Amino acid sequence: MSDIILQTRELTKDFKGFTAVDRVDLAVQRGHIHALIGPNGAGKTTCFNLLTKFLAPSRGTIHFNGHDITAEKPAQIARRGVIRSFQISAVFPHLSVLENVRIGLQRFTGTSFHFWKGLSGLRALDARVLELLELVDLREMAALKAADLPYGRKRALEIATTMAMSPELMLLDEPTQGMGHEDVERVTALIKRVAEGRTVLMVEHNMKVVATIADRITVLARGAVLAEGDYASVSRHPAVLEAYMGSDAAELQGAH
Ligand SMILES: Nc1ncnc2c1ncn2[C@@H]1O[C@H](COP(=O)(O)OP(=O)(O)OP(=O)(O)O)[C@@H](O)[C@H]1O
Ligand SMILES: [Mg+2]
Repeated sequence: MSDIILQTRELTKDFKGFTAVDRVDLAVQRGHIHALIGPNGAGKTTCFNLLTKFLAPSRGTIHFNGHDITAEKPAQIARRGVIRSFQISAVFPHLSVLENVRIGLQRFTGTSFHFWKGLSGLRALDARVLELLELVDLREMAALKAADLPYGRKRALEIATTMAMSPELMLLDEPTQGMGHEDVERVTALIKRVAEGRTVLMVEHNMKVVATIADRITVLARGAVLAEGDYASVSRHPAVLEAYMGSDAAELQGAH
């Protein structure tokens, strides 16, 4: 049991009689990159919003590291180490890349601001900023204004500011959405790198990304879990193929 970091039981969300998430049992193994996939309208975003506490469930429970976090607020779960990647809009466009990461770190240490006050504290801060920039391959762009970054690099910056909060479980909502081929590959490799030593749960549409980095995949359809397993097994699963019929079926196969 202890290697399950996140577990939901019968997680359900009703919207005025319409069940968007229907008794979902999800178990995310510690250290895994776990992907949540499914056709349009399957309930992925709603499920994600329940897990990140942006929405309150109608029924069911969510446990993180054995603690019942069902009733907790986003700030509370963030303190436990459950961090949702910031939306691009949360990046400060007029500040530099470096300043954005520094602010992320300072925000994380918030109440323990005094830690950074002394000179050695500031040096430690800057060292960590550079380390994070290095990790996401933005070091040579550190002085650029965030607004001037190409789209894919903004996503990398967003991931760096999330990493600044030392997440134990990192939640990513369609990290490659709207990206061209090259950026998709770069961000995929980046996720793989930042996933070392932590757990990642991601909603992802791009099957190639899922096939490349996901250790385990949960397929949702009409709000419920349709299949679960590694890519090879879920992509061959008849019910999954049927659910994707007429939409991304070719994509599902094309990722091999
Ligand atoms: N606030 C809401 N009120 C009413 N219905 C909603 C609400 N949010 C989502 N839904 C409905 O719940 C279902 C699941 O939506 P959701 O956005 O979770 O799907 P998704 O899997 O993220 O789809 P996509 O792949 O298109 O992003 C949809 O039928 C949607 O219309
Ligand atoms: Mg969605």
